[in-house]
Amino acid sequence: MPSDATQPARVPRHLAVIMDGNGRWAERRRRPRVIGHRAGARAVQNCVDFCIEHGIGALTLFAFSSENWGRPEEEVGALMKLFLNALEREVDELHRRGVRIRFIGQRERFGDAIRARMDAAEATTRDNTVLHLSVAASYGGRWDIVNAARSLAEDVAAGRVKPDAIDEHAFASRIALSDLPPPDLFIRTGGDTRVSNFLLWQLAYTELWFTETLWPDVDAATLRQALDDYAMRERRFGLTGAQVSASFPPPPAGTDE
Ligand code: IPE
Ligand code: IPE
Ligand code: MG
Repeated sequence: MPSDATQPARVPRHLAVIMDGNGRWAERRRRPRVIGHRAGARAVQNCVDFCIEHGIGALTLFAFSSENWGRPEEEVGALMKLFLNALEREVDELHRRGVRIRFIGQRERFGDAIRARMDAAEATTRDNTVLHLSVAASYGGRWDIVNAARSLAEDVAAGRVKPDAIDEHAFASRIALSDLPPPDLFIRTGGDTRVSNFLLWQLAYTELWFTETLWPDVDAATLRQALDDYAMRERRFGLTGAQVSASFPPPPAGTDE
């Protein structure tokens, strides 16, 4: 039994977040939805700060889904502008703080300017190690799985992989974020309790945490609440509670712990 699979939960190594509720945040203030997206971008900075301060090694943020392309043209256009601005303004500071940035999703659907900025941000920050920030943009979990299947199919057709050799490991190695531990903790803000085509494969044993708080209102206190809740959970990975505690016996009586 791999010991670290059942380690008692403490600080997550990898946090994955669906940043939801920007539109409603603005609507409640009778403002256009784009104002909510702008406020949401500021909350991203708080979340990055929080992860760095708490020693969370990897943060994956859902910024724009495959399905979000279907929103009104005006909203998609505003989001693209915001995205480009953020790439122009934030990358240097993130780099200075030791953040490695990566984008997952269908990059070819973005315009040239955004794609070029994404490539540049990844190249500039590639050797940083303080926080591994992955931004899921034009991302869908189903797209990710289909992509991995296509890549395996190409290798089978070319004779590089035998169908018998296709196992979970071979598949997982072709899915996004395969070089990171799977998310330990998933947070969705905005009150809806669904996964909305986020990391479908990667979330298999992730602890899920939902809050009514709208993304622009998320602060360190909200995130701390999620971490506190996570720290109390027993992750069993299909085993029994007794098996899990047996692999982490309590300290013998009489010790100071
Ligand atoms: C999340 O906020 C941001 C994106 C999907 C781009 P929403 O825009 O979905 O906000 P709500 O859910 O409508 O309030
Ligand atoms: C999920 O939120 C995608 C992002 C936060 C980027 P949505 O607002 O698109 O999800 P649904 O439509 O409520 O499921
Ligand atoms: Mg939403």
